Amino acid sequence: MNDLEPTRNLAMEFGRVTEAAALLAARYMGRAAKEDADQAAVDGMRLILNSVVMEATVVIGEGEKDEAPMLYNGEVLGTGAGPQMDLAVDPIDGTRPLAQGRPNSIATVAAAPRGTMYDPGPFVYMDKIAVGPACKGVIDIEKPVEDNLTAIAKALDKRPSDVTVVILDRPRHDELFTEVRRCGARIRMIDDGDVAGALMTAWPDSGIDVLMGIGGTPEGVIAACALRAMGGEIQGKLYARNEEELKRGRELGFDFDSIITMDSLVSSNDVFFAATGITDGELLDGVKYISNGARTETIVVRGITGTVRRINATHSFDKLDMISSLHY
Ligand code: FBP
Repeated sequence: MNDLEPTRNLAMEFGRVTEAAALLAARYMGRAAKEDADQAAVDGMRLILNSVVMEATVVIGEGEKDEAPMLYNGEVLGTGAGPQMDLAVDPIDGTRPLAQGRPNSIATVAAAPRGTMYDPGPFVYMDKIAVGPACKGVIDIEKPVEDNLTAIAKALDKRPSDVTVVILDRPRHDELFTEVRRCGARIRMIDDGDVAGALMTAWPDSGIDVLMGIGGTPEGVIAACALRAMGGEIQGKLYARNEEELKRGRELGFDFDSIITMDSLVSSNDVFFAATGITDGELLDGVKYISNGARTETIVVRGITGTVRRINATHSFDKLDMISSLHY
C-alpha cells in the first residue's frame, strides 16, 4: 500500500502550452511562411510556459539547424517558483509540411527534473530506433536491421513480413530501405515528423511497430521523454554529416560511436510530454476552425503514473481576445 497524496501533473499544463503554439502556428498552414509560423508557435509557447509554476531551463531548443526563431538553449522559463526542470521544446515538428499545407505537423514539449536530460550540444542529427512497450528490451541499434526486425517480430508474435517500419523519406536512408525490404518488412514512409513517428510505435492500433533512421537530435530527446513515459524504448547514436562535424564533436568530447540509451536521453521516470496537432495527422487531428473559435486535439503523458490523456478542446476566440496578449 502506498499512501502518497496525488501530486500536480505538469503535463496537463504543458497541454495548454502546445495548444497555444498549435493555434497560432495553424494560421500559417499552406502559406509558405516557415519562419513566421515558427515565430508564432514560439511566441505562444513562451507566453504559456512562463505562466507555469516551475523554474525550467531549455536544454533542447531548436534553431541551429535551420536558423529558426527559437526558444534558445539555456533560456529560463516558468514563474521561477516550483520544481526545477529541464525542458525540451519543438514548437513545430513538421515546419515544412505546415508551410506546404500537408499533414503531420505537431507542436510538442517535454520536461524532466533538472539535470536528467541529454544535451546533444550543437549536433543536429541522431540515428534512432524506437519501439513500443511490447518490444522494450529487444532492440539494439548496433545490430543489423535484420536482427532487430526479427526480434521485434518475435516480441509481437508476428511474421517479419507483418512488421511495419516508419522511416523518414530521405536519400540518406536508401540503404536502410533496401535492407528493410530485403527482410520482407513493410515501410511507412514519412516526409517529416519523427517525434510522431516514434510515438506511433507506442500508440495502440497505429499499425506502426518501429521507427528507424536518422532524424533530429532534439526530436530524439523529446521522443525519449514520451516513450519513457509510455513504456516504450528508443536508442540513438549521434550522426555527423561530415568530417568537420565529426572532428568538432570529438574535440568537444562527444562520442559518435556509442549507443545513447533511453536512460541517457532522459534519466528520470518523472517525465512529462504534451503534443497538439497543427495539421491533421495519423496521431492527432490538426486545428479546426469553427465559428469564432477553433478545436484542438492534444495528448498529454505523465511518466510516473503512465497516464496518457487525449484532450479535445474548444477554444473561444471572443473570450481569449479579451484576456490574452496573443491573437488567435
Ligand atoms: P522541424 O520541422 O522541427 O524542422 O523538423 C522536421 C523533421 O522532419 C523532424 O521530425 C526530423 O527529426 C528532422 O526534421 C529530420 O531532419 P531533415 O529534414 O534535415 O532530414
